[in-house]
Amino acid sequence: MKSITLRAPSTIANLGPGFDIFSLALERPYIELHMQLNETKSITIKTDGCREDIPEDPKENCAGLAIIELLKKANTNTGVLIEPRETISVGAGLGSSGACASASVYGLNKLLGLNLSNNQMIDIARHGEIASGSVAHADNVAGAMLGGFVIVKSYQPIDVVRIDTPEIPIVIGVLKKTQRTTRSLIPPTMDLDLVKGQLALCALVVHAIMRGDIEELGQAINRDLISEPIRSRSIPGYGDIKRKLLDGGAYGCNVSGGGLSIFAICDKGRTHDIAEIMQKAFVHENIKSETIITQSSNEGIREIDVK
Ligand code: HSE
Repeated sequence: MKSITLRAPSTIANLGPGFDIFSLALERPYIELHMQLNETKSITIKTDGCREDIPEDPKENCAGLAIIELLKKANTNTGVLIEPRETISVGAGLGSSGACASASVYGLNKLLGLNLSNNQMIDIARHGEIASGSVAHADNVAGAMLGGFVIVKSYQPIDVVRIDTPEIPIVIGVLKKTQRTTRSLIPPTMDLDLVKGQLALCALVVHAIMRGDIEELGQAINRDLISEPIRSRSIPGYGDIKRKLLDGGAYGCNVSGGGLSIFAICDKGRTHDIAEIMQKAFVHENIKSETIITQSSNEGIREIDVK
């Protein structure tokens, strides 16, 4: 039976101020996912290769939900085995569910020869995000699918712009949420003056990426008036950690996606120093975390093996 193995990158969604519309693909960490068609007429998920507990029930699994949506749209009940080999921390705001959902939709599109467009695949894959307790936001799945920097320019219908990024050095303090999602804590409306501030920050992110200006990008991602004020509350000492990173030479720092990981942007030559500052700051706050040094990636889903 036909099979495919894919790699999909982690992503930093929102990238500071771009709530649900920006995301940036990273060189690492990434997930690998193997898929095989079969005669069962059902979706089977095997998570033996994952280092964390992930539900195998397709209705509770990000890849499963995305594939259910795809099979509905394609009007077929083909059997498929999905084996994610997880290397992105789950529930840490690094796009692990988006990567799995994107890769599974990309893979099945290929195996069944459906010829879906990128926007169609992203629109289907975003349903996988519901498994992580969230709504069907498209930022992580789009970043994982296409790589680079993405802007979800429309949700109805889904329409995504992708921009090649310069090399953006990034240090991440990986921190898992204790609760499933913090999204519901974000107020549904926003004061007009705050909207103006947020618009300016979003414009600056795009400007910095287009110019390849890492310092300006750091300034742009360093503030967010929607997600950061809410999610940072769950990170003990967040203000102090951020100040230490900026004092130590990071250009900007914020909460990654739905949190609670923290990411910082800095010069390439400073990544090890910033990682050390981050580690020490977490230890000071009694927070257990893993620190990752990585960078932006212009590669989205990559085919490792097709049979
Ligand atoms: N845009 C989403 C959110 C990203 O902020 O909830 C989740 O990784």
